[in-house]
Amino acid sequence: MVNKITVVGAGNVGATAAQRIAEKELSRTVVLVDIAEGTPQGKGLDQWESAPIEGFDTRIIGTNGYDETANSDIVVITAGIARKPGMSRDDLLNTNAGIVKSVSEQIAKTSPNAILIIVSNPLDVMCYVAKSVTGFPRERVIGMAGVLDSARYRSFLAEALSISVHDIQAMVLGGHGDTMVPLISYTTVSGIPILQLMKKEQLDPIVDRARNGGAEIVKFLKTGSAYYAPSSGAVQMVEAIVKDQKRILPCSAWLQGEYGMTDVFLGVPVKLGKGGIEQILEIELTADEQAALAKSADAVREPMSVVKL
Ligand code: NAI
Ligand code: 2OP
Repeated sequence: MVNKITVVGAGNVGATAAQRIAEKELSRTVVLVDIAEGTPQGKGLDQWESAPIEGFDTRIIGTNGYDETANSDIVVITAGIARKPGMSRDDLLNTNAGIVKSVSEQIAKTSPNAILIIVSNPLDVMCYVAKSVTGFPRERVIGMAGVLDSARYRSFLAEALSISVHDIQAMVLGGHGDTMVPLISYTTVSGIPILQLMKKEQLDPIVDRARNGGAEIVKFLKTGSAYYAPSSGAVQMVEAIVKDQKRILPCSAWLQGEYGMTDVFLGVPVKLGKGGIEQILEIELTADEQAALAKSADAVREPMSVVKL
């Protein structure tokens, strides 16, 4: 357990993440921050009142300011607007860049040693904004997307094969967008390569569905985007750091030569422990996968080059 975890943005993803962090008792205190007056206070109080029933001692506090967040060990940034039908993640660029910039400035002042987990979209570009504004080292600015995209892919595979989700290992790399790269060569069921269990024609639509998993939920919800699985993804990363689990998870990281790419945030396999990103793993990719990853990096670089810092 760490002392304090702050979640910025008390909307769907942020509030759900705060509740999950408290239920897992990953910190003594969770501070929920939002600009909407009353929202973080009301949600935080409601969540704290669930403590006697759920049986957790983590104290949850809601606030509109940053005093209470001082010296947080980890800060999860979910502030921003979410997608509505017809919107791509990149449509959120300028509004969310301004929001993530102002949040990052506050966090750099009040919690200079925190590890940041970014959730706001467009994800990889928001990681770039947070890293540029805070000046934090790359070990401490980590984007959540690959865990979610991989979980979607794994859940669809479990359904198609009628087997437990526990036995499916898979990773989705690249940017959190249409160019994400599900790795078929590393998709296994208890070590069995996926193509021994289903034909490529069966697998292709599943891969496509995973790629469009975010849009599928937006289409149903109409007024916002997914938050149960996204908050689970962020909290899995928080847990890996708090418990120094050294988990290998696909996360957005600032590449400095890995996979032949420099100065770009991109989803790659990383080792997560108490220092944040403790290692970036460079795994072997097929020529097609490497080309898809390079294309995905280009799709991140484009909005990165126009975003206002
Ligand atoms: P939401 O609209 O429910 O919540 C966003 C919250 O941010 C609102 O309560 C709003 O008042 C708050 N906010 C706005 N400006 C703020 C500021 N300056 N300081 C503090 N709080 C501020 O949205 P939701 O569904 O929680 O999504 C949040 C973000 O996460 C969106 O950008 C969404 O696209 C992104 N997202 C990313 C995923 C990923 O895989 N990386 C998955 C799901 C969502
Ligand atoms: C998602 O993938 C919208 O990025 C969000 O659900």
